[in-house]
Amino acid sequence: MAEIRIRNTNERISGEQNVREFLENQEVLYEHWDASKLPAHLQEKFVLSDEEKAEVLSTFNTEITDLAGRRGYKTWDIITLSDATPNLDELLKKFESVHTHTEDEVRAITAGKGIFVIKGTEEVGYFDVELEAGDVISVPERIPHFFTLMDNRQIVAVRLFIETEGWIAHPFEDPAFVK
Ligand SMILES: [Fe+2]
Repeated sequence: MAEIRIRNTNERISGEQNVREFLENQEVLYEHWDASKLPAHLQEKFVLSDEEKAEVLSTFNTEITDLAGRRGYKTWDIITLSDATPNLDELLKKFESVHTHTEDEVRAITAGKGIFVIKGTEEVGYFDVELEAGDVISVPERIPHFFTLMDNRQIVAVRLFIETEGWIAHPFEDPAFVK
């Protein structure tokens, strides 16, 4: 299950209900899928063939089409990142700067872990959402954030889009960002 860490205070929030409530107050959608549905041979696999990506998408087809129907997402794909990804360190460096988009950024983690760093309300400031398999998050358009890997440096996630062009990153310079 996802956990929250508030950067200013180091306070942690855990438990599905608490996490969901906190994120709801920050306008971030949080849901959870049953990650154990994924066939065993894909649960710890971070380099996927096209056939294996299609298998992940078909495993969660009901969840994907339900979420897409409710939120207006039109296309989806699979992203994989691991130490097998060429230039992973450079990629992560590029990822780790605060930005915004003109549409939601949606990630459903199907294997591994990831972390969203999000700018919350004035009183909360920046917070981390640590995500593991089954966690689904939608960061609304215009909310400053970035997404990166955790220490295990492995993830498979479904991305959903309204239009892929909406996902262009607009840099958000912010002196208030807490490293
Ligand atoms: Fe983003």
